[in-house]
Amino acid sequence: MARPYTAERPVEYPAKPKAIRSKKGLTNLPKGPNSLGGLLTLRFLSDTPKFLLDLQNKYGDTASFFLGGELFIAFFGPEGVTDVLVKKQHSFVKGVGFERMHKVLGKGLLTNEEPVHLRHRRMMQPPFHHGQLNDYALNMRSITKDHIANWQLGQEVSANEEMMRLTFQIVARLLFSTDIDKYAEGVQHHMGVAIDRIERTMLPGLDRFDESPLPYFKKFKESAEYLADVAEDIISERVASGTHGTDLLGLLLDARDDENQALSHDDVRDETLTLILSGHETTANVMTWALSYLRDRDDLWEKLKQEAEQYLPDNSPPEIRQILSAPTAKAICQEALRLAPPVWVSPRRAIEDIEVAGVFVPKGAHVLVSQYASHRNKNFFPNPDKFQPERWANDFEDSLPRSAYFPFLAGTRKCLGDQFALLEAHIILLEMARTKRPKPIDAKLPVAEPRATFRPKGGVPSLVVG
Ligand code: HEM
Repeated sequence: MARPYTAERPVEYPAKPKAIRSKKGLTNLPKGPNSLGGLLTLRFLSDTPKFLLDLQNKYGDTASFFLGGELFIAFFGPEGVTDVLVKKQHSFVKGVGFERMHKVLGKGLLTNEEPVHLRHRRMMQPPFHHGQLNDYALNMRSITKDHIANWQLGQEVSANEEMMRLTFQIVARLLFSTDIDKYAEGVQHHMGVAIDRIERTMLPGLDRFDESPLPYFKKFKESAEYLADVAEDIISERVASGTHGTDLLGLLLDARDDENQALSHDDVRDETLTLILSGHETTANVMTWALSYLRDRDDLWEKLKQEAEQYLPDNSPPEIRQILSAPTAKAICQEALRLAPPVWVSPRRAIEDIEVAGVFVPKGAHVLVSQYASHRNKNFFPNPDKFQPERWANDFEDSLPRSAYFPFLAGTRKCLGDQFALLEAHIILLEMARTKRPKPIDAKLPVAEPRATFRPKGGVPSLVVG
């Protein structure tokens, strides 16, 4: 058995190309900032989303720069994003950040490369089909109701922690039929450490310190080991129970590919880890941001309350199409995902020379697309920094060019859980509107802590209001 932290890069993956360390022979690179003797790296590290947004504002749809001595090319415009994520996706593998994510998630769906990725994706898709999601809606609603029932009016809670616990419970019960109360605190803590260390060290080359005795890196390893232990426990308990069941874990244990091959123990553990982590942190963050943006929008809470009666009536089984068409809930989710996309940058690496939106990208270049920056493009989103769910009225999304808005990505690496996430986000919003919700105490928006996900900093202290 190989643990994710120390596992070797699978041999089936495309070979990792050498980084580009000089401009020599590259006459047509897009414009971009100079390295400024390392100052650029400091600017990049101190606030990466802002760094990327500044590049977009200054250089337009594409920019190039050197970080840690290696060439990066960023694509912000819809054409470049579509090329990288969809039309020419096979010329790229996942980039910086993902290499370190491997140490936590192993070779699960999020971090895997072809040809392994597609083989696993096919096996894991059934629990995310529409029919199955309809069945989940009932449980999502009852877990949400139970969670909200624990809040007392006037009580002080941490909006962030509440959303984390709720979405963790939903994912654990629906996909793993596990009651995770005993793991909740440990997972929150260690996932926080792991996520912090993954993206803060997005700079190429820093992973060579991962085995160093420095506490900062030691904690990264400890957290990765703890999370792998939890996944192994969940699997051992299921195997010991003698039944595999029909949830995602049962499916992983029973899955066979076209050649009748089962997933190995390590594969099942890594997919379990991936689903637990990618399946709740993202949704929790966007819900906390939504609560913050909605702090003073009683008008929208009133509309949501009316929608709760119409689209999620208490006296009939919830229906996915109906829930997802609640217009105010939908617009709030779209706008929160625009301004605070949980996945705010998707780094890639070119594995061959390729042209992207008319720009020559040499093999080995780091390529970045950024939801955070592209979603603030003034050409498509007037008043880009303002939270305005109203902008999504009249099928606004359909009027946007392809890949101007891509919170769940696109192409074969598109989020597997997009409908799952939207369904639970709508249910949580509508149920809170019907009963009670955490209202952030601070009138100012939380400060962002952009790591592997776009987290709000701190717990976002809130009062429960009705
Ligand atoms: C609002 C919530 C969510 C957002 C914004 C989101 C966004 C994303 C994005 C952008 C990616 C691609 C990352 C990249 O390649 O650079 C991704 C991948 C993935 N997401 Fe989500 N996600 C969310 C919730 C979920 C949930 C609830 C689940 C599962 C229950 C999930 C499971 C996955 C998986 C398995 C992948 C890897 C897919 C593949 O490469 O085949 N996500 N997600």
